[in-house]
Amino acid sequence: MKNKGSRWYQKKQVARKYDEKRFNRGGLVLDFKEKEMVLSLVKPKGKKVLDIATGTGRFAEMLTKRGGDVVGLDASREMLSKGEADYLVGDALRLPFEDDSFDVTISMRFIHLLRPHQVDDFIKEVMRVTNHKFVFESLHPMSLRMLYQWALPQKSRMFSNSLMVDRFNDIKGIKDVRYHEKFLIPYGIYQCLPLDLAEKIIEFDESVVKKKPWTASTIYWELFFD
Ligand SMILES: C[S@@+](CC[C@H](N)C(=O)[O-])C[C@H]1O[C@@H](n2cnc3c(N)ncnc32)[C@H](O)[C@@H]1O
Repeated sequence: MKNKGSRWYQKKQVARKYDEKRFNRGGLVLDFKEKEMVLSLVKPKGKKVLDIATGTGRFAEMLTKRGGDVVGLDASREMLSKGEADYLVGDALRLPFEDDSFDVTISMRFIHLLRPHQVDDFIKEVMRVTNHKFVFESLHPMSLRMLYQWALPQKSRMFSNSLMVDRFNDIKGIKDVRYHEKFLIPYGIYQCLPLDLAEKIIEFDESVVKKKPWTASTIYWELFFD
């Protein structure tokens, strides 16, 4: 897939700075919270798990340590690092796996790089290789992410929940759709904050989103397959 989001992460200088830029200072709080969220939705022990757009493998490694048999796939060789999971270079829209190869597939911080018309093709490709469940996240357009979304060089797209649900209802083979709202304050802001401030803000953030879920910037999805 040759779009801007895909090409951006092929750059050596972008890949080298990926973790340092995002998961440092206040970004550490988010990394922890995102991992906690993924673990609440995925029980990896004894399961075959695919992590699409694995990047530097932060979720693939976590799920491997918790007993999953994990494959991390990414379009950028520069992003992939070595670890305990198996890693390979590949395209999310043309997965190099046989049908039903995995129990669970995850894909974090990725779907926003797709063009709207590619979302259905991506979901169908995930369904082809996955037996049970797909967990991923998207970014919500009516959120504080609007503050800096327009300035991102990698081109990022936000999809409303109702639009996503409509799409999923049209895809044969999806038997259940659930979503969970998270983070009033979007990623890009947390990573700029000092750690102690981010630690204080996250409690406030979570209490707001609990009461007013429509303020969330990030949506975690669970799709269950027939
Ligand atoms: C924002 S990073 C997310 C990495 C990781 N999932 C995380 O949460 O830290 C987006 C990743 O998507 C990868 N990517 C972009 N287009 C892709 C494609 N068509 N197929 C597979 N990976 C792709 C990029 O190389 C990059 O590593």
